Amino acid sequence: MARHLVTSALPYINGIKHLGNMVGSMLPADVYSRYLRQRGHDVLYICATDEHGTPAELAAKAAGVSVAEFCAQAHDAQKDVYDGFELAFDYFGRSSSQQNVEITQHFSRKLWDNGFIEERAISQVYSPVDGRFLPDRYVEGTCPHCGYDKARGDQCENCTRVLDPTDLLEPRSAISGSTELEVRETKHLFLLQSKLQHEVEAWVARHEAEWPQLSSSIARKWLTEGLNDRAITRDLDWGVPVPADTWPELAAEGKVFYVWFDAPIEYIGATKEWADAAPDGDSRDWKSWWYEADDTVRYTQFMAKDNVPFHTVMFPATELGVREPWKKVDVVKGFNWLTYYGGKFSTSQKRGVFTDAALETLPADYWRYFLVANAPESDDSSFTWEHFAATVNKDLADTLGNFVNRVLSFSRKRFGDEVPAGTAAGEAETRLGEEIARLLAEYEEHMDALQYRKAGAALRALWSAGNSYLEEKAPWLEIKTDPEGAALTLRTAMNLIHLYSVVSEPFIPASAAAMRGAFALESDTATWVTAEQTKSLDAVPAGTPFTVPPVLFAKITEEDLESYRERFGGADA
Ligand code: MF3
Ligand code: ZN
Repeated sequence: MARHLVTSALPYINGIKHLGNMVGSMLPADVYSRYLRQRGHDVLYICATDEHGTPAELAAKAAGVSVAEFCAQAHDAQKDVYDGFELAFDYFGRSSSQQNVEITQHFSRKLWDNGFIEERAISQVYSPVDGRFLPDRYVEGTCPHCGYDKARGDQCENCTRVLDPTDLLEPRSAISGSTELEVRETKHLFLLQSKLQHEVEAWVARHEAEWPQLSSSIARKWLTEGLNDRAITRDLDWGVPVPADTWPELAAEGKVFYVWFDAPIEYIGATKEWADAAPDGDSRDWKSWWYEADDTVRYTQFMAKDNVPFHTVMFPATELGVREPWKKVDVVKGFNWLTYYGGKFSTSQKRGVFTDAALETLPADYWRYFLVANAPESDDSSFTWEHFAATVNKDLADTLGNFVNRVLSFSRKRFGDEVPAGTAAGEAETRLGEEIARLLAEYEEHMDALQYRKAGAALRALWSAGNSYLEEKAPWLEIKTDPEGAALTLRTAMNLIHLYSVVSEPFIPASAAAMRGAFALESDTATWVTAEQTKSLDAVPAGTPFTVPPVLFAKITEEDLESYRERFGGADA
């Protein structure tokens, strides 16, 4: 048994996330965590809202509330959606927590002591009309690299290059729209990443063999371009304050740390939040996961590709520079983009499917299965309602749902409310057991390797194997000539349903619980199946009472499809 630390990129506080955000971070992290727990590992899955930075300030301003109030509400709104998706976080924290403030300040002091932080006077965009400096997204303008005219001061959305507000051509204030901007000098803290370049390179070289190619190629690209020293403070009201004991002058000016400095530290902060939130009598040792963590802690991070540089290069540089034994990531699982009919999901243009609207439309399991089985791993993948409906109808409704219902209803009709005994297993059952064992091993291999599409295909193959067995044995015919043989077929099929409930749990937890709940077993958990059980298929013995659950997955009709396309915009949106 190993200890697995799992984190997914912290969603920005502002705005409900779309399906692309979900499939590129939290959902695969949840699937993996569930799988590991079922296999008996000690798992800690941590996530949080990323609350600092200009987007939150701007959104609060637009909503006419204080940033603190805005964040508190937005955190709860996001948490509700994630509960709806059945994301089983061990803790869902907030980067504005006191815990994160303390750890972030601690990191900054250590980096200073070790010579990796320097004070530098820099030129900043100042807006006399707004009476303030305009960091990051407070300035908009034209990207000097690609000419995109809505580039933000921190990054160009179009070419993804990281920018400084003073790089922008024809800059304007995002608050007032004023173009009367000045450049003034002010002091900021710089993280001397250039000094850590070689250490980070060596660290990446030691770990990248275990990363998917997407992650290592992005890390390599950044390292080849060379690590630049980065300003890690901002002139903002909202953020982790620069500690006054170390930098009295900057603290007095009200400087705070840049959001990308404190956000990844919140992985640790949220773990401490988790420990501090322990109910009486339950002791939780947050440090054992992070500080001088022994070799049994394996840390896996999940994120979309735009976040990969921060996790493979910049945060490791910070951790290395602290010169304390903080746990560093073992595996960085990066994802490509999920597109909406080949185009971008867009909050502002209301294009695509957002997670709250998704749950209003259909149950979480439909989304979870489709998204994970079609995760944008080796390439971007496109969401279309047509593909989604076809997948749900074929895999969930026809292959899995129909199998469950057909078997249980037929058995109840012919043999009553208990699992029938029938004859001893024969040649067909032995073959089936071997086939299931083989497919399960494949499924496990893909899950262990974080290959979600392949894992989805293996899961589907497990479901199909049940259908093939049923077609081969045809108990509805068998019953006429050999009722005991038909009983064996049904008992075997019911054992498959139970096995499906266990192995499908990471993808579709609610439906898996409904399947498992059909059988009145004395002690029943979603504990993983052993190879032996897989072959003998006898976890549900004859005589076990069962019920027939309501239809697990309703088919999506042509009319449904039409209404979704209308509501969300289809191919021509
Ligand atoms: N909020 C960032 C985003 O959505 C991700 C932050 S991940 C962490 O792109 F490293 F900062 F935690
Ligand atoms: Zn650009």
